[in-house]
Amino acid sequence: MNLLLCGQWEPQERDEWAEWLRGRLGPGHVLHLGREGIDASAIEVAVVANPPPGSLMGLPHLRLIQSLWAGVDRLLGDATLPPGVPLARMVDPSMSAAMAETALWAVLSQHRDFMRYAAQQRERLWQPHAQWRADEWPVLVLGFGEMGRMVADRLARQGYPVLAWSRTRPAQNVAAVRSVHGEEALRSALADARTVINLLPLTEATRGLLDRRFFASMRPGAGLVNLGRGAHLNEADLLAALNEGRVGHAVLDVFAHEPLAEDHAFWQHPQVSVLPHVAAQTDPRTAVQVVLDNLQALAEGRPLAHLVDRARGY
Ligand code: NAP
Ligand code: GLV
Repeated sequence: MNLLLCGQWEPQERDEWAEWLRGRLGPGHVLHLGREGIDASAIEVAVVANPPPGSLMGLPHLRLIQSLWAGVDRLLGDATLPPGVPLARMVDPSMSAAMAETALWAVLSQHRDFMRYAAQQRERLWQPHAQWRADEWPVLVLGFGEMGRMVADRLARQGYPVLAWSRTRPAQNVAAVRSVHGEEALRSALADARTVINLLPLTEATRGLLDRRFFASMRPGAGLVNLGRGAHLNEADLLAALNEGRVGHAVLDVFAHEPLAEDHAFWQHPQVSVLPHVAAQTDPRTAVQVVLDNLQALAEGRPLAHLVDRARGY
């Protein structure tokens, strides 16, 4: 089978993936790192990490697009993406576990004021604040999929009352996590939560969800943790909500424009913690097996795993 590996990444990252794939692909597979000089009609699988738009045009025998990213919004935003070719996304339990660690750190930091104490240390300020128990700190997780489920489970095990919001009634429940859906349930959950974590995919229905109206529905002073996509958030509305005290603190891992501009207000804002899109990075040590399993399924004519519903957008 001929595979094409392409993405927008540092050469070092691409070479690392090439090494992992070549080391594990069986005989009979050929991995191409670019399209120059290759027979495009031989390519059957594209393994991609947000490739530049147009990268997958003119591959007449493409049978699978395997994304190395969990979120496929950028791929689906490419109008030239070959229609009708199955698109699979990255679903790797160790990536979800990394996401759960990030979420736990963010919730703990907001719940126990640890960011505030770090800022106080820089000012040499000795100032204790009220201490809440975990069971007094309700957390709302937006999105109850691969990532949301692991995050909700981890937080619930830590003693937080966790509510998870999804589009439809989930097939899989998580012990001690209450799942809700619909607009009315969202508004009531927002009024109660002390930390709101966004783990939704970016679709036409979720773009810009975290806006002025959303913040107005939040419990005053609650924390926001955006681990989904930058385009979920209206940045100006968040800055206004922070400055008015409507949102107490925000942990932001994803941004409308990445990397975040040097002069962006978020860098210096005392109530904002910035992460450089690292909440859960694809780790080739485990993710390579996800790719290999799908290649095997394709070769044997078995159903492919983690297929994206293009019409739904995730
Ligand atoms: P997933 O398994 O597809 O789960 C998506 C969840 O969102 C599902 O529960 C889905 O509801 C819900 N949802 C979708 N549209 C909705 C809507 N309009 N209203 C309410 N709920 C809605 O996705 P995942 O693997 O958990 O990943 C989620 C996102 O995390 C990715 O798309 C990506 O943007 C982001 N991510 C970020 C990082 C990072 O490092 N920051 C890393 C990986 C992923 P149903 O269950 O009803 O379909
Ligand atoms: C990272 O943001 C991903 O979608 O994998």
